[in-house]
Amino acid sequence: MIIIINKISNSRCINSQQYSLENLLNLCKLTDTIKNIALTSEGLKYLKPILSDKRAILYFKQASTRTFLSFQNACHILGISCSEIRDTSTSSEVKGESELDAIKTFSQYVDLIIMRHPLSDFIYEISDNLPDNMRIINAGSGTNEHPTQALLDFYTIWKYGLENKKVAFVGDLLRGRTVRSLALLLNKVNGIKLYFVAPKVFQIKSDILEQLDVDYEITDDFEKVLSEMDVIYMVRLQDEYGGTNEVINTNKYSINSSNINKMKDDAIILHPLPRRNEISVEIDKDKRAKYWQQCENGMWVRVALIMDMFGISDVDLLFNKYIEYIT
Ligand code: NCD
Repeated sequence: MIIIINKISNSRCINSQQYSLENLLNLCKLTDTIKNIALTSEGLKYLKPILSDKRAILYFKQASTRTFLSFQNACHILGISCSEIRDTSTSSEVKGESELDAIKTFSQYVDLIIMRHPLSDFIYEISDNLPDNMRIINAGSGTNEHPTQALLDFYTIWKYGLENKKVAFVGDLLRGRTVRSLALLLNKVNGIKLYFVAPKVFQIKSDILEQLDVDYEITDDFEKVLSEMDVIYMVRLQDEYGGTNEVINTNKYSINSSNINKMKDDAIILHPLPRRNEISVEIDKDKRAKYWQQCENGMWVRVALIMDMFGISDVDLLFNKYIEYIT
């Protein structure tokens, strides 16, 4: 499935294709500015009223820890009141109401819908059926996309420098939506090279490869590429989606104390989390392990994204108003 939407309005965050490099870099700078402002209690007080007239709903039909809580806390930081549906057995869907009607209903109470859904295309149906001014964020759509995870991954890589980097994706690339979304974002960066490292049965689908303009390589040989990479992005086996009963041999596709020393000294290791055993816990102490930092970045990137979607994207203006506020 290739869905290319060149112009999705700023009231939607649906897929990676909709972002230009300029959008991405502005979002990174906005995130940095917000993080700096939020370092002090004065700064947090400045941020709190910014969107305090807005309401959001988190509609999550799949399990989530990080995405749900980081969005919820991003809303708290901006003063947005949140409601949630995580268990549809408590919604009128059990009375036979269609999901679209349920969503149309709560869309009348809020300004922003943040949705995670097991079906890849449902986010497009919702986007098509709700008014243009309703803000809608895709917080994970089946095995297809997870654009906000990709935005926070992009930000984390940007912090260490994006130019001419070699980035390897390792693990279940067949069903790993974060890899699909991040590959499409990194595709906007000149000079970057992507490596898709997995056994054949878990390789990334051709719909993503067909959209890549940057150089890429497909391989099943992790040990061979390990020493050359600047960024290694691990993903777990996504076995909840079915499609294959095969498993990945994590003796071959993992980072642990026996192979970490083959990595470049200034490389970084990322993982969208949750992990299983593709990264051993002892690696957490290694200076190259950045996945907990990546996880924290998630909340701040989501603050920036929400602000941007409500029209607050001028980094200098935000900072200058903050200086005025504290002086
Ligand atoms: C990812 C997801 O849900 O796709 N998790 C997340 O949002 N951080 C990755 C995963 O579940 O493996």
